[in-house]
Amino acid sequence: MNSEPYTLDRYVAELRRITGETDDEDEIIRQVGPLAQRMAVEKAWLKPKHYESDSEQGYGVHVLHEEPDHSLAVFAVSWLPGRGTPPHDHGTWVVVAGVEGVERNVRYRRLDDGNRPDYAKLDVKHDFNADAGELVCMKSGGIHSVHNETDAVTLSLHTYGKHVNYTVRSQYNLENNEKKDMIVKTA
Ligand SMILES: [Fe+2]
Repeated sequence: MNSEPYTLDRYVAELRRITGETDDEDEIIRQVGPLAQRMAVEKAWLKPKHYESDSEQGYGVHVLHEEPDHSLAVFAVSWLPGRGTPPHDHGTWVVVAGVEGVERNVRYRRLDDGNRPDYAKLDVKHDFNADAGELVCMKSGGIHSVHNETDAVTLSLHTYGKHVNYTVRSQYNLENNEKKDMIVKTA
């Protein structure tokens, strides 16, 4: 293995190569996954400010990279203890690599036919804990929620086909089956 530090620049160069060679999301995720894990384990990019969260939002989104057209977005996301997100999709593929702490991920499937624009009925498909060094990968349309159920800030590295504030994507309310737009605050 190359002993040079695995920098953000090297990671982005590989993201550009992979997505330049294929549009197939399964193939992109298959190739990006191990590289994201290497970023998560070696942490050459990590700075103390990446642990800062937005107390209102419950988590902090630190943009490490995006291309001028908002593609290939790389975020460090820190989660406050006891906080998380409602179920949401991303409008693009995503590879999440755990950096520090355990994050509970719940994956959902749609039970409705998608014909009503503001309505979605979800069912739990998979409920699991993602530890540091582990991957959570989804193609466009994949729905999950994330919660930090530990008593310390957790951190994960998120790589998206496109910055999620520039895709068409939704968050879901499990109580009333409402589906609405989702925008995150970034730092
Ligand atoms: Fe997500």
